[in-house]
Order: sequence, then structure tokens, then C-alpha cells
Amino acid sequence: MDGRPIGVFDSGVGGLTVLHELLVTLPHEDAVYLGDNARLPYGPRPLAEVRRFALEVGRHLEREGVKLVVVACNSATAAGLPDLQRALEVPVVGVLEPEAHAAALTTRNRRVGLLATEATVASGRYEELVRAHDAGVEVIAVPCPRLVTLIEGPDPFAEETTEAVREVAAPLKEAGVDTVILGCTHYPILRPVFQRVFGRSVTLVFSAEETAREVAETLERKGIANGEDREGSYRFLTTGDPAAFREMGKRFLQLPIRDVEHVTLAAAAPAAA
Ligand code: DGL
Repeated sequence: MDGRPIGVFDSGVGGLTVLHELLVTLPHEDAVYLGDNARLPYGPRPLAEVRRFALEVGRHLEREGVKLVVVACNSATAAGLPDLQRALEVPVVGVLEPEAHAAALTTRNRRVGLLATEATVASGRYEELVRAHDAGVEVIAVPCPRLVTLIEGPDPFAEETTEAVREVAAPLKEAGVDTVILGCTHYPILRPVFQRVFGRSVTLVFSAEETAREVAETLERKGIANGEDREGSYRFLTTGDPAAFREMGKRFLQLPIRDVEHVTLAAAAPAAA
């Protein structure tokens, strides 16, 4: 039995969709969530910079005494998961592999669409991971530069967002995909919009549930799960404005958010490109 919390991070509040699933799947575990809001968005940045940010956040969570780190950000996972796994003492779980596995299992016509940030698409990691499960699957990737800003903006359900979704969905519909990976932890909040635009014949794959399952299995197999006779607690850190995090965060977590603490991260050595 291990009473240390699970650390979870994202560039902002999108990763709270993953935290939500973790709290549902592992109600007896404690969690500490860090949003690097001061540097959001990660998506348009070069991969080396995102990797450096991810190392800074990962090391901070390790100093907080976590027993496992969940990279609840597709861009950070795509840019830096192997570096994080090498740099940290604790196990690190990312969000790409569980989704890639689910997509490879789900597709019937072996044509999978990917919607994600520019950094995630540029990394090419989804193609590699999907093909590791089924080398015959074609992945059609479309970067979505506007979505995260619209989702974190004042009205995520405005007509402008639906238009932006239609625009990125068009090439995937054209290509006849039957499965679409929503490869960004911000996107689940737009699930109804995506589902309406793609229709019922297309299966949408999200990271949150798949990732929570992988975390549960990791804790179990490594023998570091917490006792099941308790209800876990969760707390929040942000590099940005705590009040703004609390307000925006509720939308993504769909659970109360009480205290949010401001943190400053120590600079990590620049990572190789
Ligand atoms: N939540 C991040 C991801 O999953 C995207 C947000 C950003 O661009 O920082 O890729």
C-alpha cells in the first residue's frame, strides 16, 4: 500500500478531463494536478521547447512527492515521454499509447483520423504507435491550431467553434475514416460537437478512460496502489492565475475545485532537439 498521491499535468485545464476519469476509476487515490497555464498553449511550440517544459513540470511533481506521473497532455507526451521516463524516478504514463491502441482495435476499414495540436501532429508519434499495433492502418492527421484557444476562451460552444470543427473534420470525412482519435486532452469537452459533425458511423477515441485504465493497472502491478477503504483527495497547482484556473477548471473537471496554489517552476536544462 502506498499513500503518496498521483501527479497529473497538462499545459492548462484540458488534462482535467483525464483527472476526472482517474478520480472515477481510482476513487481511493489522492491526486495533485499541475496546470502550466502561464505557458499555454504548448501546441504551436517547437517539440524541443515542449519537451523542456514537460521536464520542468515532471520534476516539480516529483518534488511534491508523487508516486506516478500522468502526462495528461498529448503535446507533452508526443514531445517528451521517453525523456520524462528517463529523467524521473517514478513511473510516467502518457496519453498517446492508450488511444493509439484503442484506435487500432476499433477501426474496421483501417483508416484512422487524428485531430491534435500542431506539435502532436509534427511528432508523428501516433502513426508510429498505431502501426505498432497494426501496420496496415492508415493514419490521416490534421493539425487543429485554433481549437485549444477557442475551448479555453469565453464561449467554447460558440458558432465559431463548430465552424472550426467542421473545417478540420472535412479532410477526414473526405478520406472515409471510420475512427477518429481526438488527440488532445482539451477536446472531450466538445464531444457533442464532434459527434454531430462526424455522425454516428464514426467512432471517436478519447484518452481519458483508456489512460485511467492503464494507470490503475500500473499501480496494481507495481504494488503501489492505495488502500481501498478511503476516499482520496485532490489538489491543484498552476503556474498561472489561481482564480482563472478555478473558474475554467470546473468546466473540465465537473467536480468542485477548492484551493488552487500558484507555483513557479525551476528551469530544466535545455533538451536536445
Ligand atoms: N492539452 C494539450 C494537448 O493535449 C493541448 C493544449 C496546448 O496546446 O497547450 O495537446
